[in-house]
Formats: sequence, structure tokens, C-alpha cells
Amino acid sequence: MAKLIGHKKIRTAVFISGRGTNLKNLIKFSKTKKSPISIDLIISNKKAIGLRYAKQYRIEKKIISFKNKKIAENKILNKLKKENIEFICLAGFLEILSKRFIKNFKKKIINIHPSYLPKYKGLNTSVRALKNKEKFSGCTVHYVSSKLDSGKIIIQKKVQIVKNETKNSLDKKIIKQEHRIYPAAILKIFN
Ligand code: GRF
Repeated sequence: MAKLIGHKKIRTAVFISGRGTNLKNLIKFSKTKKSPISIDLIISNKKAIGLRYAKQYRIEKKIISFKNKKIAENKILNKLKKENIEFICLAGFLEILSKRFIKNFKKKIINIHPSYLPKYKGLNTSVRALKNKEKFSGCTVHYVSSKLDSGKIIIQKKVQIVKNETKNSLDKKIIKQEHRIYPAAILKIFN
């Protein structure tokens, strides 16, 4: 992975599908001096709530429907190339990127996942952890590979599940840690 040279930040795109709290957190981080990345493009597969941060922080956004995945990915690849994007952060992006797409950004796409991987890949992680009476859950930042939520782990953090824990209370604890470890993972990669 290329290290940060001089003062130029690594041009980064964030992909979202939802409310975008990780996006907002990454934008704030990117504006700090210590951040190796700048956020120059936001990609979404739909009119996600989180796109409001594109407007708020004056970052270019592009909504691309994944009705036809191949066409969608080609459009995104063209845009990324045009904007000289070198690094991609997935933050609640609900489409699975193809092998072919990932090959174009080898070891340059990372994702945040709301469980202590390899436990609970996929969706509804907190509900499943509670159902199984787990003692802890957590969150993980990992490289994106062609297998869902299975790429090399960069950073992860455990969160305790206490008595009477609800999905809501657990999700709150997890997202708080997500906002800590996503920037930490980026620092770990580039420093
Ligand atoms: C987070 O829990 C993240 O781990 C998962 O999707 C959620 C996105 O939340 N991949 P937000 O849109 O960043 O608030």
C-alpha cells in the first residue's frame, strides 16, 4: 500500500446506502491534519439519507442504481478513474461488489462491519448475537475481498452484551466504537 507522500492526501471515495453516520465521521476525520485521506466523492446505490453530508460538506456525490450490477460497476469505475480516486471506504453500503470490481482496487477497499468478525457476517448482526445469548459483540474494519465480510481484518473492537441488552442499546454501543475504529484503521494502514 502506498504511503502518504508529502502533504498530498489520498483521494478517497465513500460508498453508502443508509443514514451515513460513519460517512460523517470519516469526513470530519479527513479534515484533521493527521488524516492521510481526503474524501472527494460519495457513491450511493440509492437516495440515501446520508447523502445530506455531500451537500453539507460540499463533496461530490453520485447515485448509481444497481439494477444491472455490471453497468453500475462500470459507471462507478469510470467515475473513480476520472476523479483519480485511490482508496475506497464502504460505510453501510448494501451492495456486494464483484470480484472484477475489487480487482481494480486490490487492497484498496475497506469496510466496517457491526460484529466481531468472523462471527456474524452479513445482516442483522445484533439481533442474531442477542438471540444466541452472546457475551459480547463488536465491530470490525477489514479489507474487502470477494467473499462477504471475510477479507483481512485491520482493527476490531469488542463490546460487552449486558443483562437486559436490547438491539437498540447494543447498536448504540457498537456504532460508538465504529466511529472510533474506522479512522484508527485508516491511520494504521497509511502510517
Ligand atoms: C454500520 O453499522 C456499519 O457497520 C454497517 O452499516 C452501518 C452503517 O451505519 N456496515 P451508518 O450509515 O454509517 O450510520
